[in-house]
Amino acid sequence: MKTSTDWLRYFQDNSQHLLDIPWHTGGELTARERRAIGRSVQEFQRGESSEGKHFMRYAERYAVATGDRDYVPALRLFIAEEQRHARVLARFLTLNGIPLVETTFPDKVFRLLRHVLGTLEVSVAVLITAEIISQVYYAALRTATSSAILRRLCDQILRDEAAHVEFQTEQLAKLRAKRSRWLYGLTMTAQRGLFFGTCLVVWMVHGCVFREAGQTLGDFWRSAWQHFGRAFTAVRTSNPSNANARQHLSGIPR
Ligand SMILES: [Fe+2]
Ligand SMILES: [Fe+2]
Repeated sequence: MKTSTDWLRYFQDNSQHLLDIPWHTGGELTARERRAIGRSVQEFQRGESSEGKHFMRYAERYAVATGDRDYVPALRLFIAEEQRHARVLARFLTLNGIPLVETTFPDKVFRLLRHVLGTLEVSVAVLITAEIISQVYYAALRTATSSAILRRLCDQILRDEAAHVEFQTEQLAKLRAKRSRWLYGLTMTAQRGLFFGTCLVVWMVHGCVFREAGQTLGDFWRSAWQHFGRAFTAVRTSNPSNANARQHLSGIPR
C-alpha cells in the first residue's frame, strides 16, 4: 500500500507525462455518434468538474488528526486531474458544437450524499463508485466512437482512473482498518448497495453508449462488478494484515 507521499509524487509525475491529443483533427463526430453519445458525454463532463471543497475540508481535518500531511496536497492534485478531464471533455464538446450542461440528476444525488453524510469516508466511498464506473464507461465510449480525439481522451482518462481507483480504495482501507469485523461487513454491504444502485442509474442514463459499443446490459453488469471486485481485492492483497477485508470480499455479486 502506498503512502500519501508516494501518491503525491505519482500525481506530480503524471501531470508531466500526458498523452498528446490530436486536437488538429477538429470536430469529427458523425450525426449518428452525436445522437448516441452526445448527451451522455455532456453529463460525464459535468460529473468530472467538481471543485471538491467539502472533500478538501474533510481531508484537512484527517491530516491534522493523523499527521498524514501529504494527503491534502495529494488529494488536491487528484482533484486537479478530474478537473483536467472536465476541461478536455468540454473542449471536445465545444469543438463538436455540443453545449455544456450546468448540472445533472446523478451529479446532484452524488453531491447530496457526500454533503448530507459529510465525512471523509463517505466522500471517498461515494467517489470510488464513480471512479469504478468511469473505468467501464470510458472503455465503452472509446469503442463507441471513431473520433481520434475522443479515443485518445479516453486512453488518457482510463490511465488516470486506474490510479484514481487505487488511490481511493487504499484510502478507504486506511480509514476502515480498525473497524470490527461485523461493522466492516456492514460497511461493504452498503458499499455494494451504493454500487448496485449506481449501476442501474448508469445503464438507464448512459445505456446508449454501451449499446453503441456493442454491449448488452449483461456485459455492462459483469464488467462493472469485475472492476468493483478487482478494486477492493487489490487493497486486500496489498494489505494482508487487513483481516476485515479478507473476510468480506468473497460475497461480491457478479
Ligand atoms: Fe475523471
Ligand atoms: Fe477519477
